[in-house]
Amino acid sequence: MNRAFLRNAVRFLAADCGIRQFLDIGTGLPATDNTHEVAQGVAPDARIVYVDNDPLVLTHARALLTSTPAGRTAYVEADLADPESILSSPVLADTLDLTRPVALSLIAILHFFPDVAEPYAIVARLMDALPAGSYLMLSHATGDFDPAVARAADSYRSQGIAGQLRSRAEVARFFDGLDLVNPGLVVAHRWRPGGPVEELADAQVSIYSAVARKP
Ligand SMILES: C[S@@+](CC[C@H](N)C(=O)[O-])C[C@H]1O[C@@H](n2cnc3c(N)ncnc32)[C@H](O)[C@@H]1O
Repeated sequence: MNRAFLRNAVRFLAADCGIRQFLDIGTGLPATDNTHEVAQGVAPDARIVYVDNDPLVLTHARALLTSTPAGRTAYVEADLADPESILSSPVLADTLDLTRPVALSLIAILHFFPDVAEPYAIVARLMDALPAGSYLMLSHATGDFDPAVARAADSYRSQGIAGQLRSRAEVARFFDGLDLVNPGLVVAHRWRPGGPVEELADAQVSIYSAVARKP
């Protein structure tokens, strides 16, 4: 459902909002319907910069760099904890025009940032660097519906992987100052502009998702 949200949100931004530039941080290993495939399926001239800090993702990055001739994809190895290193990357400057709207994609990554890692300030810094008319698309694991999710998060932490589940109100804070688009901040399977909602319980999905526009 998280990947379905990614696909639906990218398609919506490219088709309905005219977005042609995507900054996808926390890319993950190539999967079906990577951001550039969905965006360029709508708009062949779309440009995408992928960012991840996992060397394993870097070794698979070639599969992410299969751009249409009219568009462009690029890969930056960098850490979301250091947004300046992303914003000052020559690869980013070469691929995206930051005077024109960009969709910042933070899909299933911010739950690896506990509050002490200042995730709200990081998101605000990145959105500050983007012009009005840009978008934030984000998904985030939550323990709001199922205690088993909290146990899974404990098991991550006991293996030394930092993280923090967030409530709906805590996830909503990432969108402060932005205008949420319909259907707002919802559990991922419910983010279906114009389409049917999957017959699932919120506890089965346990990940919030939303898209918002910078006014
Ligand atoms: C759960 S995966 C999500 C992948 C993809 N966005 C998706 O939703 O299918 C999280 C990704 O974020 C990356 N990641 C985690 N912490 C990061 C950080 N501090 N900086 C950059 N990438 C990070 C991981 O390497 C991983 O590829």
